Amino acid sequence: MNKTKHLIEPKDFTVEELDDIFRLADDIIAAPMKYLEVCKGRLLASLFYEPSTRTRFSFEAAMLRLGGQVIGFDDPSASSTSKGESLADTIMTVSCYADIAVLRHPREGTAKLASKFSPDMPIINAGDGGHQHPTQTLTDLLTIRHYKNKFTDHVIGVCGDLKFGRTIHSLVKAMSRYKNVRFIFISPEELKMPQYILDELDSASYTQTNNLEMVIDQLDILYMSRVQRERFVSEEEYLRLKDYYVLDNTKLQKAKNDMIIMHPLPRVNEISVEVDDDPRAVYFQQAKFGMFVRMALIMKLLNLEVER
Ligand code: NCD
Repeated sequence: MNKTKHLIEPKDFTVEELDDIFRLADDIIAAPMKYLEVCKGRLLASLFYEPSTRTRFSFEAAMLRLGGQVIGFDDPSASSTSKGESLADTIMTVSCYADIAVLRHPREGTAKLASKFSPDMPIINAGDGGHQHPTQTLTDLLTIRHYKNKFTDHVIGVCGDLKFGRTIHSLVKAMSRYKNVRFIFISPEELKMPQYILDELDSASYTQTNNLEMVIDQLDILYMSRVQRERFVSEEEYLRLKDYYVLDNTKLQKAKNDMIIMHPLPRVNEISVEVDDDPRAVYFQQAKFGMFVRMALIMKLLNLEVER
């Protein structure tokens, strides 16, 4: 019997295992009908202690499209959490009913903690506070692979809230494993990349700036992000920083013709809607890849296969 595998942070999968997931996602995209019953009789628990549109819907759609079923909540006040139940007790209970669980929580480290109480049911981290969001990274990597055909040899501009942006932390961890990837971290001083992430990187692999216009012509990939209002202590500080970057057609004039513009969404003001018509804007496609890669992930964690 295999040991239960959880996905808490991107490096829980080796590069080879990731390639396997992406190849499976390719096959699901090419022939979705083959997968209609793979998860028949299986149950996914969707435990969302924080708001979500894409992540929750794409996970639930993924399980349903695999023929499985979904239980869960998107408002913890409707669960026994509101009666004071601990996370450990909730997880141990859920594991009596479900085969796999997706957990989003405002507190950093919660998914890891939950995995300690779940010896048999895989736990997927769908975002733990401002820390990590590994399944968004699977989505992002599948998008990069689709538009750029490779993970190596890219200059990636990561722009916006690098301090609290968990999708960014996970993306940087994952992409730092590929050869000749250089990051340009673009943020105001107050929202710089945390030191614990920088410490994991080769210091020659990144530079930091607050000036998007100065570096945009160097980029192969521009990853924009929302200023994470819910993580700020001071609303005033948020209001001061929220529109620090607004990507528009004028700023894009200097960018390469084959640069891709990514964003995990939701977008607030950081990408002007006029950019949506630019062929380089791939953020809505990116959201679509999210469902397919999560189908592949569920199959992988449940050790399910179909003949390809
Ligand atoms: C992100 C998140 O929840 O961290 N959203 C998502 O899952 N696509 C990004 C964000 O909220 O800014």
